[in-house]
Amino acid sequence: MENGAKENATYSFSPPFEERFLELEKKFPKRTSLVLWSLHLVQEDIGYVSPAAIDYVAQRVGVAPSWIKGVLSFYSMFREKPIGKYHLNVCSNLMCQLKGSDEIEACIHKKLGIKDGETTPDGKFTYTRQTECLAACGYAPAMLLNNDFYELLTPESISALIDELNAKG
Ligand code: FES
Repeated sequence: MENGAKENATYSFSPPFEERFLELEKKFPKRTSLVLWSLHLVQEDIGYVSPAAIDYVAQRVGVAPSWIKGVLSFYSMFREKPIGKYHLNVCSNLMCQLKGSDEIEACIHKKLGIKDGETTPDGKFTYTRQTECLAACGYAPAMLLNNDFYELLTPESISALIDELNAKG
């Protein structure tokens, strides 16, 4: 359940994720090599890495929870808070700024009423201002919607996309 934003006091891999974890164990006999893969599985499963999931991954991999927390703080692709179903991650690095990412951001604020790091009250949209270049400078301004690239954005195109996602539910 990607970006499902469910809060649980306990966590364990659901059957398809358990299956994938067991496959990874075969590929990576060195336990610490499983950490990043396991965190990706968790994030794909529930949308973020909860405190319960930190303990769970630590126990499955055989390291201390503090080790997992260190990994989480190092890699910006992991989230430790629930996010909306649709995660708009707009690049605000130099080229995208020069090509109008501020206007895209302003349009998102106007349409959804959320700022950097916020989620709409219905849990549908989260907006993040991405400070690292998304490596799509030739198509600036660019953004990620969950894991998909959107390029050459305009206020009109982002506005239409938000309407489309709203209609989709
Ligand atoms: S600066 Fe935005 S993609 Fe490179």
